[in-house]
Amino acid sequence: MKLSGKKVLIGVTGGIAAYKIPILVRELIKEGAQVQVILTPDAQAFVTPLTLATVSNNPVHTAFFNKTTGEWDSHIHLALWADIFLIAPATANTLAKMAHGLADNLLLAVYLSARCKCVVAPAMDLDMLKHPSTEKNIRTLEKQGVEIIPSETGFLASGLIGEGRMPEPETLCKYIIETLNPPSILSNQSWVVTAGPTFESIDPVRFIGNHSSGKMGIAIAEALATKGAQVILICGPSSVPHRHQGGIQRIDITSADEMLEAVESHFDKADGVIMAAAVADYKPKISHNEKLKKSGKNLILELTPNPDILSRMGEKKNDHQLVIGFALESSNGINHAKEKLKKKNLDAIILNSLEDDGAGFGGDTNRITIIDKEEEIITFPLKSKADVANDIISFIESVFYKKIS
Ligand code: PMT
Repeated sequence: MKLSGKKVLIGVTGGIAAYKIPILVRELIKEGAQVQVILTPDAQAFVTPLTLATVSNNPVHTAFFNKTTGEWDSHIHLALWADIFLIAPATANTLAKMAHGLADNLLLAVYLSARCKCVVAPAMDLDMLKHPSTEKNIRTLEKQGVEIIPSETGFLASGLIGEGRMPEPETLCKYIIETLNPPSILSNQSWVVTAGPTFESIDPVRFIGNHSSGKMGIAIAEALATKGAQVILICGPSSVPHRHQGGIQRIDITSADEMLEAVESHFDKADGVIMAAAVADYKPKISHNEKLKKSGKNLILELTPNPDILSRMGEKKNDHQLVIGFALESSNGINHAKEKLKKKNLDAIILNSLEDDGAGFGGDTNRITIIDKEEEIITFPLKSKADVANDIISFIESVFYKKIS
């Protein structure tokens, strides 16, 4: 999945190639993207809102407001939501209006409000495409920073043969993947990521564990793999699957001791480690071979400390490796996180606090603060764990770029 966490907005205008857009939407969804679609009034004659709503899993946007209810469809929100705005097929009429700043339909108003990258795939008959007005409009848009996906040559709906065909959905999907995943300094690096809880055995039936689902660590592993990194994902007991079968080698473990062994055996060859696992600080001193019987009296369990895996990697690391930890705190987060950053000799620590609604264990969202080695603090709002993972990866890229600059 090369588009996990990415938001793609597609504007469809009134050209025959519009019938191919549902296939493009399906391709994007298969790659993990969130997709929303805007149809111009004429586009609705070629492809229905129902088709596109069904394949995109989202309502389709067709007008500034609903004439019956008066409900406003905010072009500003749509424009700010998108990571990329693709207008395909783009007719000569829409290109002309875009070049001249007209906003007489929702698609055009969104275009004028967009801060993300805008890409157009012109599709029309060959003479319209080569008309000096169309060529001038395309050049104007290029000067304004719009990327043009060149039309292809072939059989056109008019029966003529020439330039003007919209590239096939697979080509457009590839273009979006490449645009949203520019080459990264992390590509071909090796990373170790830990995720999930550890279970510390009391007897064959019982254990000491915690509420970690593995979602945060797995999202980080997926974000690294999207950048082209080879990831060793060392995961405690978790039912959450991972994507990117090629880029991620998953090692399932149960206890902190097993996690330590797996991390140690892969750390030396790695460019870095991110420890998102919630490792149990203590384990029972004795793990009983037989199920403990109920006696009716108090039961005292003697606990012994687990190894601190992160501290060990902090001690071992060389100048080229990054060691990044998490801190899960219930109060006074920044101070506790800074203490862990220093004590464990980390390059950065990612604080998430149980004081924040929607952050931490289990759910699909998190709210993090990154504290780097110089104790610079970067705060982020509540986001999906996929988006949080992308923020962490962008931070790591910036650290590497600083190192080599
Ligand atoms: O899995 P999810 O449900 O998505 O939840 C995500 C999460 C809340 C588990 C994750 O975001 C998180 O905060 N992970 C770290 C939890 C934790 O153990 O925090 P800590 O402050 O106790 O530990 C500090 C760091 O030391 C962590 O990187 C931890 O992995 C590491 N550690 C802790 C103890 C130990 N014995 N060895 C370690 O390496």
